[in-house]
Amino acid sequence: MTEQAPQPAEKPFLYVVVCAAGVAEGVGALLTAARERGWESGVIATPAALNGFFDVAAAEALTGRPVRSAWRTPADPRPFPPPDAVAVAPATFNTINKWSAGIADTLAAATLCEAHGLGVPIAVLPCVADALAVHPAYRDSLTRLRAMGVRFGDPHTGDPSPAGGRPGFAWERALDLLDAAPADRDDTPPGPGSAIRYDPPT
Ligand SMILES: Cc1cc2nc3c(=O)[nH]c(=O)nc-3n(C[C@H](O)[C@H](O)[C@H](O)COP(=O)(O)O)c2cc1C
Repeated sequence: MTEQAPQPAEKPFLYVVVCAAGVAEGVGALLTAARERGWESGVIATPAALNGFFDVAAAEALTGRPVRSAWRTPADPRPFPPPDAVAVAPATFNTINKWSAGIADTLAAATLCEAHGLGVPIAVLPCVADALAVHPAYRDSLTRLRAMGVRFGDPHTGDPSPAGGRPGFAWERALDLLDAAPADRDDTPPGPGSAIRYDPPT
């Protein structure tokens, strides 16, 4: 079996996890802003998000890398280097709850579960309707993820505003959150210099 190393990044490498929310169509704004702020990035989409929620070809053109959604086979090269940070934007009700529960049944969910253990900063921009956001499981998920040090942007419902039109999605907030000082967390994560080396099975 010949396995190639991922194409190395020359700059800090940002994983952008894209979930199946309507606002995902605008993710190019985040990819463009990330590039302007000195990140290289790669998109990991949920399988549902690949179903027409955003322009995959445009994302690949902006990042210069394939959009990932499925696990590679053992012989495949790793398309992405290890992450220096992770942005989840938009983050759905489904993915937030799965991540909090430690469910790793998609590449996107598994990547988020691993990211915590790597100790890299993680920023999340939820897009969740109010009717879902009041669910106790969701509230518990936010509490748990915040305690893990995950940084959250303001709630966004994706609903039209009372005045008409749809409020903009604050894409760059994800990058601001990654720039911020580390959030308080309830344990000691493995950080730089840790014995834990990221050797992704994905
Ligand atoms: C047009 C459309 C828009 C959606 N927008 C949202 C949304 O804003 N937030 C959300 O949590 N789910 C939304 N959903 C539902 C999710 O796509 C669905 O729960 C899916 O299972 C999420 O999968 P993922 O978390 O793996 O991406 C939307 C579905 C459709 C068809």
